[in-house]
Amino acid sequence: MTVEHGRIKGWNLPPEGRVLDGQGGTVAPALIELHAHLREPGQTEKEDLHSGLAAAAAGGYGTVVSMPNTSPVVDEPATVRALTEKALTLGTARLRPAAALTRGQRGEALAELAALKGAGAAMFTDDGRTNEDARVLRLGLEYAGSLGMVVSVHAEDASLRADGVMNEGPVSEALGLPGNPAAAEAARVARDLEILAGLHAQGRPARLHIQHLSTARALDLVRAAKARGLSVTCEVCPHHLTLTDEALRSFDAIYKVAPPLRTQADADHLLAGLLDGSVDCLATDHAPHTRAEKERDLLDAPSGIAYIELAFPLMWTRFGETLGLDRLLHLMTAAPARVMGWPEPSLDVGAPADLVVLDLETARTVNPAEFRSKAKFTPWAGETLRGWPLLTVVDGQVAYQRE
Ligand code: DOR
Repeated sequence: MTVEHGRIKGWNLPPEGRVLDGQGGTVAPALIELHAHLREPGQTEKEDLHSGLAAAAAGGYGTVVSMPNTSPVVDEPATVRALTEKALTLGTARLRPAAALTRGQRGEALAELAALKGAGAAMFTDDGRTNEDARVLRLGLEYAGSLGMVVSVHAEDASLRADGVMNEGPVSEALGLPGNPAAAEAARVARDLEILAGLHAQGRPARLHIQHLSTARALDLVRAAKARGLSVTCEVCPHHLTLTDEALRSFDAIYKVAPPLRTQADADHLLAGLLDGSVDCLATDHAPHTRAEKERDLLDAPSGIAYIELAFPLMWTRFGETLGLDRLLHLMTAAPARVMGWPEPSLDVGAPADLVVLDLETARTVNPAEFRSKAKFTPWAGETLRGWPLLTVVDGQVAYQRE
């Protein structure tokens, strides 16, 4: 492949300029991440733009949507601009910051959505918080929809979730830990879908994206809403497919995440949703915290699992046979682009030169000490995975190359 001015110039042209060796790997469009916590501004002891975007590039991602639950919250156009401009200087993955739907993510007054869009915000979300005020969410969906923008939601009913630190069920009961019931997610998804349906009935062009769906029941609700023709999409995270609440028997807060790890039946249902298309795309919810924070006990530790560097290898190793390479790549490239209304990534002549070269064969052991992310720990440490990126190119520039 030859690249010129950041675009694919041709496939069989004589090489000129800098020549990169793909080492026999499989070439695909660079992966797209719709959900990562990069922690800048203000929480850079956990992660920052450079470490987070370098980690993303090492994971094969060319584009990352960052979450706005930072300190301060990303609810000002100037912050969106500053993050975007800084990311451009880093030579890693491309950043598309999400902005808060409400001021300070407090769920009360809408942020200045039109100005945030003008500054380059990719979508609006109060992720990490749960949009308790239904009227505010409705207004946000209506206004964002009129701007052609997606609102993505962290769908958990806070009163039902209460102080639950893990999935509510036999395991939480056996451990004596406060549980977070599946109904907390399903009830919130049902509410949000009804709000969306009401807007559609009035001819409003609202677009709702449900983040990190974790329960079978909530997926059934989304499936039914799609059958009704609602403009709803959803993502599922690899950790909800590969881990269950059984992991909490270790009492290790590395497994604490919101929404929580559920049951094997939920994970199986989500996987079926990836196969039948009712789940739109994969997203990691890469949520780094410091080691000291995650070493606290389960009640006090913050929620979040960080693993953007190994999401593709994890999915390929565990589900490559079930999903097949084409479907898995679709779920991590074209599918997230479609959720956002972005042009579909391709390797055609003239397309942006955003690509990843994947080694689908060689097994390597996960060694968190090698992570670019500041969170140098992960539930999959020591596991043997295949599917590691060899090279990630963004706009024709090398964003990652395995040494
Ligand atoms: O586990 C989570 N961690 N879920 C979220 O929604 C927020 C995230 C974070 O910011 O750490």
